[in-house]
Amino acid sequence: MPKIFVSRALPHSAIQMLYDAFGEESVSIFSEDRVIHRDELLESVKGIDALLPILTETIDAELLDAAGPQLKIVANYAVGYNNIDVPAATERKIPITNTPGVLTETTADLAWSLMLATSRRLGEGERYLRAGKWKAWAPQLLLGDDIHGSTLGIFGLGRIGQAVARRAKGFNMRVIYNDAAPADAAIEKELGVSFVDKPTLLAESDILTIHCPLMDETRHAFSTDEFKAMKSSAILVNTARGPVVDEAALAKALQAGDINAAGLDVFEEEPTIHPELLKCENALIIPHLGSATKETRAKMAEIAATNIIARLNGETPPNCVNPEVL
Ligand code: DGY
Repeated sequence: MPKIFVSRALPHSAIQMLYDAFGEESVSIFSEDRVIHRDELLESVKGIDALLPILTETIDAELLDAAGPQLKIVANYAVGYNNIDVPAATERKIPITNTPGVLTETTADLAWSLMLATSRRLGEGERYLRAGKWKAWAPQLLLGDDIHGSTLGIFGLGRIGQAVARRAKGFNMRVIYNDAAPADAAIEKELGVSFVDKPTLLAESDILTIHCPLMDETRHAFSTDEFKAMKSSAILVNTARGPVVDEAALAKALQAGDINAAGLDVFEEEPTIHPELLKCENALIIPHLGSATKETRAKMAEIAATNIIARLNGETPPNCVNPEVL
């Protein structure tokens, strides 16, 4: 009987899949409503065959060694896997899987929510109203900027970046993007997007939305120089990973008026937010909700379960990010 450890209570449909495949006794779940402490995690993984962690858990060499050589898979409950030291897993021949695809549209919806809410100052408006400051309709009250007809810049035209671009058609926007390399001409044509270099993306975007993975090359890809190169009317949106943006530099840029506003779902040191950013009225900040719909979170859990079931049954897990170990 294999041993599976799940580091947080997840949608039951996925847990049921594991029960059906291996029996209830095989699965142990950390069921408290908090992040598991590191020492608890190190203890809980001892002797397991499969680990299903969420993105608050750091999966590194120490953790993999604590689990032991029988560990056969780490099935991350996220599409991003920067919480996992993949080379350390590869060295130990442990496949790592993620949950691509199912959260694409949901995360694109959230990026659009931030784009719309930030450009129309909805956060400020709600705070103003709840504080009892609204006395009457006024011609100059909380004026924002039009999204329709403006230029959307996308940094990273992967699955989510493409889904964001597709939605821009309805807003009659010009869409430019930058990535490590241009996309296929057919994709560009279908989406109506044009590849530009990063300086052009910075200079021409009215709204710049980030959809790249976190890697050495993208860490602090947006810092002081980038903010100074953007339009002072520009809005920055980040639903990818916090460390792609230098948060201290962003707070300064927002305070100095180098850019107009920011909509942020992710942060450098979650759940801690840079204190200067918290002071910025022109920053709309939400707690990492990109994939947070009932349907999508269930599908993500089911994908993680599918990967574990495949691996423990001696099959290839469908979403392996280091397939060279198989
Ligand atoms: C991911 O999957 O990487 C998101 O950030 C959380 O759903």
